[in-house]
Amino acid sequence: MAKDKILVTGGTGYIGSHTVVELQQAGYDVVIIDNLSNSNRDVLDGIERITGIRPDFVEADCTDISALRKLFDEHKGIRGIINFAASKAVGESIEKPLLYYRNNLNTLMNLLELMPEYGVEGIVFSSSCTVYGEPDENPVTENSPIKVATSPYGNTKQISEEIIRDFVRSGSGIKSVILRYFNPVGAHPSAEIGELPNGVPQNLVPYLTQTAIGIRKELSVFGDDYSTPDGSCIRDFINVVDLAKAHVVAVERMLTGKSQEDVEVFNLGTGVGLSVKELIAAFERATGVKVPHRIVGRRAGDIEKVWANPERANNVLGWKATATIDDTMRSAWAWQLHLRDLGK
Ligand code: NAD
Ligand code: WQD
Repeated sequence: MAKDKILVTGGTGYIGSHTVVELQQAGYDVVIIDNLSNSNRDVLDGIERITGIRPDFVEADCTDISALRKLFDEHKGIRGIINFAASKAVGESIEKPLLYYRNNLNTLMNLLELMPEYGVEGIVFSSSCTVYGEPDENPVTENSPIKVATSPYGNTKQISEEIIRDFVRSGSGIKSVILRYFNPVGAHPSAEIGELPNGVPQNLVPYLTQTAIGIRKELSVFGDDYSTPDGSCIRDFINVVDLAKAHVVAVERMLTGKSQEDVEVFNLGTGVGLSVKELIAAFERATGVKVPHRIVGRRAGDIEKVWANPERANNVLGWKATATIDDTMRSAWAWQLHLRDLGK
């Protein structure tokens, strides 16, 4: 018998699709809502090829509350929501702040508003390590200071966390788990799903794999004059399947009454900081493929170094990132090769 029914917003997106796979494999019944603004329908085929189950899919916009009502009316018995749906490009958010505030905040508020009405008990929210800004100390714990956001995108994550806290405290009767992701990378080992960047990738790993395959001429390393051992920035690169699995544990915990507080916050990272240069070396080692790259100037607004203390997630959630960086890089490469086969 299928376990609970879960609504996954943004479920055809990068992290959402990997999470849908893990939810289905854990026995959950999944309904996806996505407006396909940053993903496409083919992702459903990839999910089905991995799990043998085609998730229910509703093409609609979460900022449209009547579309959400229709979804809840037609899919009775949804017990939990995982809210991935959001716009996520930091640079674009600086140019189009209202689009970001409107999309990310209205999506969240619509979902929250309808939860009590439709008896939905809990919501897992995709937050980000961006809330910590440039940390005073690494690794960061969930109690590390929240810094003033440097982009409207980052601000939507901070405001969303506050909105969730206020709504839970208001006596709405719902629960929430806020997950702060570090840098999600890699793809499903089957290479059936992965990250599909729109246009020129802004993030390191998609740019790297597109360079390795010859779509881009060379990878620019943004700065090697930081105060880090090799001068390049340091991040906590977390395998997307490991990340997806944390959502299954979080949903289970939330819906089986194991949460210690009505709003729980967890860092999802490996606990290991890797520099940009180390990541490139890991890719070359793991795949045997060279990545043409060149050191250029710093990218405005970059954080020098940030990595997670994931102990709360390890101890309380009982989740731990297990993939090695070499496996993760091999999965990113296999996905890029798969995209080439598809002519993308
Ligand atoms: P993504 O763009 O691949 O997925 C988001 C999905 O949401 C897309 O399929 C998009 O079409 C959909 N969507 C956007 N607005 C919508 C709306 N109004 N209604 C319905 N669907 C909508 O992004 P992702 O990398 O999978 O990120 C998922 C979540 O995790 C986002 O909230 C993002 O901010 C957060 N996050 C991502 C990262 C990262 O580096 N990828 C890091 C930290 C947090
Ligand atoms: C990683 C490192 C770059 C591209 C962003 C968002 C953050 C979160 C995760 C959602 C940096 C360097 C990159 C390139 C490079 N997203 N780099 N050459 O900046 O850590 O975080 O995604 O919440 O909010 O800001 O990720 O992948 O862009 O960069 O040298 O072509 O790689 O300078 O040091 P970032 P990223």
